[in-house]
Amino acid sequence: IKKIGVLTSGGDSPGMNAGIRSVVRTCAFHNIECIGIYRGYEGMIEGDFKSMNARSVKGIINKGGTILKSARSKEFRTVEGRKKAHEQLVKAGINAFVVIGGDGSFTGAMIFSQEYNMPVMGIPGTIDNDIFGTTHTLGYDTALNTVVDVIDKIRDTASSHNRLFFVEVMGRDVGHIALNVGVGAGAEEILIPEEDLGLDRLLESLRRSKQSGKSSSIVVVAEGDKIGKSVFELKDYVEEHMTEYEVRVSVLGHMQRGGSPSCFDRVLASRMGVKAVESLITGKTNCMVGLKNDVMALTPLDQAIKGQSKINLELLRVSDIMSI
Ligand code: F6P
Repeated sequence: IKKIGVLTSGGDSPGMNAGIRSVVRTCAFHNIECIGIYRGYEGMIEGDFKSMNARSVKGIINKGGTILKSARSKEFRTVEGRKKAHEQLVKAGINAFVVIGGDGSFTGAMIFSQEYNMPVMGIPGTIDNDIFGTTHTLGYDTALNTVVDVIDKIRDTASSHNRLFFVEVMGRDVGHIALNVGVGAGAEEILIPEEDLGLDRLLESLRRSKQSGKSSSIVVVAEGDKIGKSVFELKDYVEEHMTEYEVRVSVLGHMQRGGSPSCFDRVLASRMGVKAVESLITGKTNCMVGLKNDVMALTPLDQAIKGQSKINLELLRVSDIMSI
């Protein structure tokens, strides 16, 4: 392998820049040319490439977002789109690539590498932590810290006004963020897609909180929660059934994807980049690098995509006990 491409794809996450830096510098260390591919697969199709050296990635380890930009490419899902991308890679002499992204990005990489026999390696980058084969995806730890910090602030105002807050957090179809920030920020209830609390139990729990002397409460709701009501409908529902609380809603949104990566994410990104490039050098392909028992491990892309990331439901019980 003489030239390795690197791209970020799908929703961005803090730590992607640290991952790019690591891929570029590991390539430099092994005398391999590294090519930055801009705007994910969109840029691959258009040949939006730039040669990068160790100095191109200076000063980015602490920056949120991705200097390579990111996109969710519809065209790359088509045979024609991937053909164009392959032509661009061949023209630029790129022999392999590392994609930093989530399961959609990995699906694209897997199909592409099978069609064109091109070595690919994935680095899991998403705040959702919804990838099998790693205990942590890049950006997840930072997002947890960002959200805990915000909920602490919401609690200040909730407690000043004796209010109940529904705080909606990201996570797509999984509840990793909600569950962990719920425990970390001391929420009274946590609603996640993996466990349907039900409206009756929610009301019961809120009444119990009130009776136990709490004047304000925080309920963390995962955006993919299956209780059957949006956070705004939940507010109306609770206000209809309980007069004890004045209710407010806060949907945190994309601020959860921004900000300077935590030390954990920076270290993880640095390790993952080294592992990804060195795995390609030793002839490995079609895999994702991940963290397992504090060791870097490879998981075949098809398993990473299809497998279920394990959520620690024991945390729900911990949360119940803590919110007594
Ligand atoms: O996958 C990351 C994520 O932030 C999810 O948590 C969220 O559901 C989604 O992306 C939002 O996507 P977009 O940035 O396209 O609105």
